[in-house]
Amino acid sequence: MLNGKNVLLAVTGSIAAYKAAFIIRELITKGAHVRLIMTESACDFITPLTLSTLAKSPVVKDFVKNDDTGEWNNHVELGIWADLMLIAPATANTLAKLVTGHADSFLLATYLSAKCPVFVAPAMDLDMYKHPSTQENIKTLIKRKVGIIYPESGELASGLIGEGRLAEPQKIVKHINQYFLDKASLKGKKVLISAGPTYESLDPVRFIGNHSSGKMGFSLSKIASKRGAEVTLIAGPVELQTPEKVKRIDVKSADQMFNAMKAEYANADIVIMAAAVADYTIANPESEKIKKKDQLLEIKLQKTKDILKYLGENKKDQILVGFALETENELVNAKEKLKKKNLDAIVLNSLKDAGAGFGADTNKITIITRDNKIISFELKEKLKVAEDIFDFIEGTIK
Ligand code: CTP
Repeated sequence: MLNGKNVLLAVTGSIAAYKAAFIIRELITKGAHVRLIMTESACDFITPLTLSTLAKSPVVKDFVKNDDTGEWNNHVELGIWADLMLIAPATANTLAKLVTGHADSFLLATYLSAKCPVFVAPAMDLDMYKHPSTQENIKTLIKRKVGIIYPESGELASGLIGEGRLAEPQKIVKHINQYFLDKASLKGKKVLISAGPTYESLDPVRFIGNHSSGKMGFSLSKIASKRGAEVTLIAGPVELQTPEKVKRIDVKSADQMFNAMKAEYANADIVIMAAAVADYTIANPESEKIKKKDQLLEIKLQKTKDILKYLGENKKDQILVGFALETENELVNAKEKLKKKNLDAIVLNSLKDAGAGFGADTNKITIITRDNKIISFELKEKLKVAEDIFDFIEGTIK
């Protein structure tokens, strides 16, 4: 389950910091991508070189990357990149600062801005661990949904014997693996998604297409796959990287997309049509390059098959979700499409919204359901929009 997951490991200043090396090795073996943060004092216990070599990724310690150029490390970006942040070992001092909201280190600032789940694995001396302040801090963190990987009992660096020793690396990694397993809410589901534009050939060198970037459909595929679904992505001509573990079928024309969707449809549990399919194709494409002649060139267009409508008409148990791109009368038009195409829900995006639409990395959507529920979302990164869409599908329709 850790395969392909982005884990941000933050190491604080404890004698147990050396165990971070084993945690990294364990994570990497399981296929996770690891990025690293260390506090100043963590570097007294283990060198950044050791950890960065194991993780194949540099250690970030400070806000400023390069004093001379003013280059800085972006804590927000790291928090967005991560599927999970793990603070291990977490000292009593760090636990206290997580609770109070201090931001006087890169680690703390990243924690405050992280959108992903956070786990802490405390490590400290027995008395520090037992102290009411530490215990209260742990309780507060639990209330705030921070996962605690409890320390174990054993011989401590102080010579005392008792609770406070960092959980064994294997146990820590098992714990977060279990978290992902439990969260694999789409495990066992087959998800079929279309993405990108279609190209309709005029002749061997020209086509009619549209500006769809495919980013929304690819983001949906990525999230579905992360949630454990078996994902098939029917992709129009786009140059985007296939998300991990997603089966991608490349198509060009609306007709090819129709055939690919039709072939995969019967097997699917959830189907999302995010592609911008051409409504018309060329009636008589030329087999040779069209030569320039008259001032006016007439091209006859012919309606393509409405793929989504076909899927709606042949729907069995699938959850069927369409997209509607509108420039006017948005709600009315979207509702009409939902009905006409026999959908469970339609995702409306308006080209009028700044930051939304083709090519953008962000989108602003409204979801409309068959029973006329209307849910509007803020403008966000397309990956977050994809999460909203699956949260909705899982929570409302299933
Ligand atoms: N769609 C489809 N096949 C087509 C055209 C559209 O499957 N030939 C799907 C799109 O992928 C989208 C939904 O239908 O999920 C709505 O697409 P949109 O372009 O907004 O609407 P159209 O039905 O094409 O109607 P119009 O272009 O007139 O707004």
